[in-house]
Amino acid sequence: MQGKLTVDPSNQISKIDDRVYSALIEHLGRAVYDGLYNPGNAKSDENGFRQDVVKAVKDLNIDLIRYPGGNFVSGFNWEDSVGPKEDRPTRLDLAWRSIETNQFGLHEFMKWTKQTGTRPDMAVNLGSRGIDAARNLIEYCNFPGGTYWSDLRKKNGADKPFNIKTWCLGNEMDGDWQIGHKNAEEYGRLAHETAKVMRLVDPDIDLVVSGSSTREMATFGSWEETVLDHTYDDVDYLSLHRYYGNEENDLHNFLAKSVDFDEFIGGIVSVCDAVKARKHSDKTINLALDEWNVWYHSHKQDDEATPWQQAPHLLEDHYNFEDALMVGTMLITLLKHADRVKIACLAQLVNVIAPIMTDDNGVWLQSIFFPFMQVSKYGRGVALAPKQESATYDSKDFKDVPYLDSLAVYNQEDGEVVVFAENKGEDAMDFSTDLRDLKAKEVVEATQFYGYDIKQTNEDQTMAIQPNNDVHLDGNVLSTTLQPLSWNMFRIKVSD
Ligand code: AHR
Repeated sequence: MQGKLTVDPSNQISKIDDRVYSALIEHLGRAVYDGLYNPGNAKSDENGFRQDVVKAVKDLNIDLIRYPGGNFVSGFNWEDSVGPKEDRPTRLDLAWRSIETNQFGLHEFMKWTKQTGTRPDMAVNLGSRGIDAARNLIEYCNFPGGTYWSDLRKKNGADKPFNIKTWCLGNEMDGDWQIGHKNAEEYGRLAHETAKVMRLVDPDIDLVVSGSSTREMATFGSWEETVLDHTYDDVDYLSLHRYYGNEENDLHNFLAKSVDFDEFIGGIVSVCDAVKARKHSDKTINLALDEWNVWYHSHKQDDEATPWQQAPHLLEDHYNFEDALMVGTMLITLLKHADRVKIACLAQLVNVIAPIMTDDNGVWLQSIFFPFMQVSKYGRGVALAPKQESATYDSKDFKDVPYLDSLAVYNQEDGEVVVFAENKGEDAMDFSTDLRDLKAKEVVEATQFYGYDIKQTNEDQTMAIQPNNDVHLDGNVLSTTLQPLSWNMFRIKVSD
């Protein structure tokens, strides 16, 4: 099999926004309690923050942390989570049928973001609550002082405002599972009014309005149109969520779902631009893909879970090697849309459909950790439009799927082109990259992730990225072999 990627430095998609390497942390299962916060554990510091988790989060170079949900936020009273811990109420979390103690709250979260070098992306509750709770929360977080809520923040230990820049107007409001689910008209109106008061408190914030939860929603497309009709001038980003699974145990159809992902993102871009045209607007709405991942392994177990536990084992997918390939192809796909996808949150980060897992002894890294870590570390710069040649295959749901999925990122600051390439086929592929006008000087690093049984998981921590020592640079052409079912990265020093 042959595969070729031609890269032209003048043919750029866009600069990649650092915020595409973000993640969701929700009060759900063992994400917060046990995961982030585990007082008394030998690995925790004086705040109760697991330091092994902090290190793993730093290794992933995460930018924003979307918080506190997810579905959880639609039943959450943020006031419960501030003030002396002994006074905080224990509540029923109806979204996940769990017990929420509120021992980890807003101030703890802000402290944790500082430790991990991340930034908050805060969601407000537009399910069970609305405008009033949102305006009070933003006053608490962002107003300097001299008012009831800002002074309460000071009293609770944070003299300086948190200055949270990015805010989500609710979560998955189109879904009937959501507490306080609304139709598009109802939500659009509420989002507009909430955005208005939030900006009155702090005009400098960025706002994300909720789009479709999945492409399969009956309201997909029309939801976005109606919601944007109400909020186009108020918001900066429209959210979209996408999870994939391999329920039918069909590897090639599973990996081909990146085609659906690509069409989903492209479709939403078209809807945003149709509203823009209809409104004769100069403003462009960009996308916040603020939940994406593989999610399906834990569904059955979660259906049988006992309700009303504290920090129950929920959504604990153990990811295998084919899931890592799926996350790799999803990463390449979202970078292909770098011109419009400006925020993307891997959902989630710790213990719940997560790359990082904890037990009492420490952290273990899932298979999906590895491609995410590489793209997040080296996928910085400008995404170059990929011109690709590859054989294709047909799967159950998709036609003409290229075996090769590849993309190059030009990091001008470091004088480096980084190529990410996945071989979805079961045969080795002769692969070459032509760098055209960029003068290739040397290959700084070449790695491959392959050779595991597609169903192998990583509890025993044996998975690792390996070097690829069979790479040749001839003028501006890099050639190598992509192993069957492999994830690959090549870093090439270049000059203009
Ligand atoms: O990430 C898990 C859940 O998936 C989130 O709470 C919700 O927003 C989505 O349905």
